[in-house]
Amino acid sequence: MDLNKQTTILITCSSGLAPFLQAELTALGFTVDNSHDTGVEVTASLYDCLRLNLHLRTAYNVLYLLKEFTCETPGELYENVRTIPWENIIPVDEYFTVISRVNTASIDNTMFPSLKVKDAIVDRVAQRLGSRPDSGPKRDNLVFGLYWQKNKCRLYLNTSGRKLSDRSYRKMPHTAPLRESLAAGIIIAAGYDGSGPIVLPMCGSGTLAIEAALIAVKRPPGLLRTNFSFMHLKDFDIELWQSLRRDTLKQTKKTAAKSSPPLIIAADIDELAIEAARKNALTAGVEHLIDFEVCDFADTTVPPAGGIIILNPEYGRRLGQIQELEKTYDRIGNFFKQKCAGYIGYIFTGNPALAKKVGLRTSRKIPFYNGDIECRLLKYELYKGSKKNPR
Ligand SMILES: C[S@@+](CC[C@H](N)C(=O)[O-])C[C@H]1O[C@@H](n2cnc3c(N)ncnc32)[C@H](O)[C@@H]1O
Repeated sequence: MDLNKQTTILITCSSGLAPFLQAELTALGFTVDNSHDTGVEVTASLYDCLRLNLHLRTAYNVLYLLKEFTCETPGELYENVRTIPWENIIPVDEYFTVISRVNTASIDNTMFPSLKVKDAIVDRVAQRLGSRPDSGPKRDNLVFGLYWQKNKCRLYLNTSGRKLSDRSYRKMPHTAPLRESLAAGIIIAAGYDGSGPIVLPMCGSGTLAIEAALIAVKRPPGLLRTNFSFMHLKDFDIELWQSLRRDTLKQTKKTAAKSSPPLIIAADIDELAIEAARKNALTAGVEHLIDFEVCDFADTTVPPAGGIIILNPEYGRRLGQIQELEKTYDRIGNFFKQKCAGYIGYIFTGNPALAKKVGLRTSRKIPFYNGDIECRLLKYELYKGSKKNPR
């Protein structure tokens, strides 16, 4: 495939992250053409897709548009897909999968369009080259994405394969871990750039701390991954990719050497959580940048200089649990008030009723989704002498 041909690139993300994804794209020098709740579009090349896969923190997948067409029936879908020169895209001994998102009257089984696309691909390759690639559900090799809305179809090469949020450092998930792209979005939304202290009590498996460390040392998360879908393309220039990786790594090391190390404190009451966080940070190559503590959140070290503090307490489902959590949220309010003066405090929660128990006035509520749970990142300006809001 031509690495320099420009086309529409759709970068997907979870609900709530699009503004942060847009900001990342702009910082990387791209002009945003279009943006919606779960995706942002730019015009760029396949080579740009390699850079995007390497650098983006808040994205899910980088999709390179192969063909756009109108289509009413599965037969038309097959014919349109078959016109694409697949013999130049997929090696005959490669494996691929097709993921479809379909909302059209003629289809009620979303597996069916994926099968039609697969048939068109293998039939074309078999006809031209006498042998057919293998296909199935795994996302570890080539991945294609079909978006079929009414009579409009778009077929993409998903250059990422597995979601970019799957950074591959989380070997020990512990309980209720945040997705890495969401954790990065929270850290970015909190305005953290590595220049001041960041304190993360209730750190669980350490996702927020690890993403903060990666941001502080400006290390692109894609450097942690060894496999992307684009690497499986026919005649893919692996040397070009390796040199892009090497150059990025060199630049990252140079930047880190020039700046002073960040101050990141991650704590949790559960020893096993800290064990998991430590191991995950080690896998991510940032364990040396984080100070870990096993303690109640209220005893976490809070450096006096001021900075950012973020808590991600449980939201609770069962009644007994909620009553217990009400006390925890109330204690967080007291902790903010008594120990965190001079900080910007944040609570990430999916339970607004519990959030009220904090009893402090929020200065901002940033909407996010954690899976299908609507959440908020609540911001508290903890100026010295801030008053607990009597409710
Ligand atoms: C929702 S999880 C955090 C998940 C984390 N953001 C991640 O990505 O893995 C909440 C964490 O708060 C911790 N926790 C609960 N009560 C605590 C307390 N009183 N002090 C400190 N940590 C506490 C739990 O052990 C758990 O790891």
